[in-house]
Amino acid sequence: MGIAHGWRVQLLQRKPLPQTLAARCPTSCCVGSTQTVGWSPMSWQAFPRLLFQTVPATPLAAAQEKAEGATSQEEQSPEAPDSPSPISSFFSGSGSKQLPQAIIIGVKKGGTRALLEFLRVHPDVRAVGAEPHFFDRSYDKGLAWYRDLMPRTLDGQITMEKTPSYFVTREAPARISAMSKDTKLIVVVRDPVTRAISDYTQTLSKRPDIPTFESLTFKNRSTGLIDTSWSAIQIGIYAKHLEHWLRHFPLSQMLFVSGERLISDPAGELGRVQDFLGLKRIITDKHFYFNKTKGFPCLKKAEGSSKPHCLGKTKGRTHPDIDPEVVRRLREFYRPFNRKFYQMTGHDFGWD
Ligand code: A3P
Repeated sequence: MGIAHGWRVQLLQRKPLPQTLAARCPTSCCVGSTQTVGWSPMSWQAFPRLLFQTVPATPLAAAQEKAEGATSQEEQSPEAPDSPSPISSFFSGSGSKQLPQAIIIGVKKGGTRALLEFLRVHPDVRAVGAEPHFFDRSYDKGLAWYRDLMPRTLDGQITMEKTPSYFVTREAPARISAMSKDTKLIVVVRDPVTRAISDYTQTLSKRPDIPTFESLTFKNRSTGLIDTSWSAIQIGIYAKHLEHWLRHFPLSQMLFVSGERLISDPAGELGRVQDFLGLKRIITDKHFYFNKTKGFPCLKKAEGSSKPHCLGKTKGRTHPDIDPEVVRRLREFYRPFNRKFYQMTGHDFGWD
C-alpha cells in the first residue's frame, strides 16, 4: 500500500511518563445534595486556583492518589508502538519535524485514542503515537525537545499529538499559547458520569484492591456530598476547565468532539474534525466498519497496513455495575455544569 493512497507508516516514539494528577480541593469547593457551599457553575472566579491546589492526603485520598498514579498514563498498546518499522525508518528521512499545529488536549477516557487513530488515516496528518505530556510534565525540557518527539512532515501535512491531561492542567493553556497562538485545540468530551466510571474502570484494571466507585464518589455518603477532589469526578466538570482555555484561546480555535458520536457516527465526527483542521474530507464512512465482537467501530485498514484494525483491549472495557442511586446523584451533580458547558460551546451534547 503506497503513501499516495494515504496508508502511511511513520516514526513513533515513546517516552517514560511519570505523572500524578491528584489535585485536591478544600471542603468549600464541594457540592452536596442539600447544600452548595461557595461554588456554583456561575461563580467560579474564586475557585480555579483552589481546585488545582495540592493538599495533604487523608487515608482515602492516599488510596485515590495511589489508584490515580497507577493509571494516569494511558496504557501503551499496539496503537502506540515502540519502535519504527524498517519502512518507516526509510521514510523518516524525508521532511522535517515541526511543532504540532493541532493538539487533542482532552479529555481522558473521552475517546481520544480512537480520534487520533482515525485521523492518522488521513495522508495529511502525521501524529506522534504515544502521549508526549510536554505541557504538563516535561515543559522544562524545552520546545526543541518537544519538537524532536514529532514525526517528520512534508509541506502541507499537519503535525499532531494527543495528551488528554492537558485539558485539566492549569498551566497548559498559557504554555500552548506561548508556543503558538494559532494552535488548534480538539477536545473529545463524553458524558461525565460514564467518563468517571470509565476512568475508575481503568484504575481498577491495574489496582483491583482500590475502594469501590461508590465510596470514592462521596466525601460523605449520608449527606450526598460529592468528592470533587477525586480526579475521576473533577475531570468531568468540563465548563470549569474550559474557562481557563478561553482566557488564552478564542472558542473558534477549539473543536469539541462528541465521544458518543465518535462511536455512533465516526465518519460524521471525523468530517467535522477534518473541516476544522482545514483538511480535505478524505476519511469517510468507507473507512469504518462496526465490529460486533468489539462492540465499536473499527478501521477497515489501519494506517500503514491493509488489515482491519480495532483499538486494543484497554479501549472499550466492560464497566462494573454502579449503584443506580449513585449514578443518579452524579447526574444531578453534573447537570448545571453540563448546561453551562453547552452554553459556552454552543452545543448540547445531550447528556442530561
Ligand atoms: P471505555 O473503555 O470506558 O469504553 P481514551 O482513548 O480517551 O482513553 O478513551 C477510551 C474510550 O474510548 C473507551 O472507553 C471507549 O468507550 C471510547 N471509544 C470511542 N471509540 C472507540 C473505538 N472505536 N474503539 C474502542 N473504544 C472507543
